[in-house]
Amino acid sequence: MNSYPVTQGLILGIETSCDETAVAVVRDGHHALSSVISSQQVHSKFGGVVPELAGREHEKQILPVVREALTIAGLNMISPNLEAIAVTMGPGLSGALMVGVAAAKALSIAWNVPLVGVNHLEGHLFAVRLEDDPIEYPAVMLLVSGGHTMLVLVSAPGRYRIIGQSLDDAAGEAFDKVARFLGLGYPGGPEIEKEAQFGDPKAIRFPRALRDGSFNFSFSGLKTAVVTYARKNPNVEVSDIAASFQAAVVDILVEKTIKAAVENGAKSVALAGGVAANTILRKRMVEGAHKHQLAACIPAKINCTDNGAMIAAAGAWRLENFGPSDLSLGAYPSMALEEFAE
Ligand code: KG4
Ligand code: ZN
Repeated sequence: MNSYPVTQGLILGIETSCDETAVAVVRDGHHALSSVISSQQVHSKFGGVVPELAGREHEKQILPVVREALTIAGLNMISPNLEAIAVTMGPGLSGALMVGVAAAKALSIAWNVPLVGVNHLEGHLFAVRLEDDPIEYPAVMLLVSGGHTMLVLVSAPGRYRIIGQSLDDAAGEAFDKVARFLGLGYPGGPEIEKEAQFGDPKAIRFPRALRDGSFNFSFSGLKTAVVTYARKNPNVEVSDIAASFQAAVVDILVEKTIKAAVENGAKSVALAGGVAANTILRKRMVEGAHKHQLAACIPAKINCTDNGAMIAAAGAWRLENFGPSDLSLGAYPSMALEEFAE
């Protein structure tokens, strides 16, 4: 690995892979001086993100959000004196990613600072570095978002092995689809969580799929089971269905993460991605970890859903270890998390 000298250590992180225009200033790869997240409201009436609208909204928001993040961090827009600009280059929606990448490249030339392209999934895994307590490696990280459900064995920053993943829907996608079916809003995760507070998680026993000893997940059968049950039982409270569905998802996520950590000799477990903002999942993961003498790193909710601070944190590490990206950097909608062969 190259070693790139990091002197001032102020990194601007730009994230536009989906429906959040998010920008942060992070010092030393760990301390967020600002983190501004502008969530697009335009999609809620469609019950899901409309890619074309996402790109157009990012285009309107990107520079005002950059300005706000710099201002909160005490920097100005003319010469902010940054170490680098980190930007999400993929995976995500093509038109959405392109807005962030184009803005980052233009600002990199205007301010004469290096550019660092960051993988969005690696960004989520770096959210743990924004916490005060350092994470103990090796760690098993559960990355649960709208597009991904993965168990990643992290032996050190940047050294990843995917040991399990969803064979069909991502956990967040299941939350969104079930919420839409139940007539709740978008994004579905927070709506289901709100509704579930009034329900009984034991009211309906929904299936816990793939209890086969593997670390893979499957959520499409659960979604179908919820739909079938709700159609057959129109008088059952929506809150009971939401609570029982949430319990089924959390049960399987926690069970497999802890088992993966124990079987792989990990010292800690960690949560990452939008679904990691779920209160029940956070609580149950900590309880499960402590039962097995594992440390649990649960990032602040604001750092679990898409944000610029995690991109800056990953960018700081990438810059130090691999140097800057070229100005020909593009957007890579289907980029995978690069596994590191031991
Ligand atoms: O990581 P993220 O912000 O964007 C992606 O990269 O996908 O994750 C968004 C996903 C959505 O599916 C949303 O419903 C889910 O995270 N989510 C939640 C909660 N907050 C967001 N799921 C369950 N409970 C929550 N509190
Ligand atoms: Zn994400």
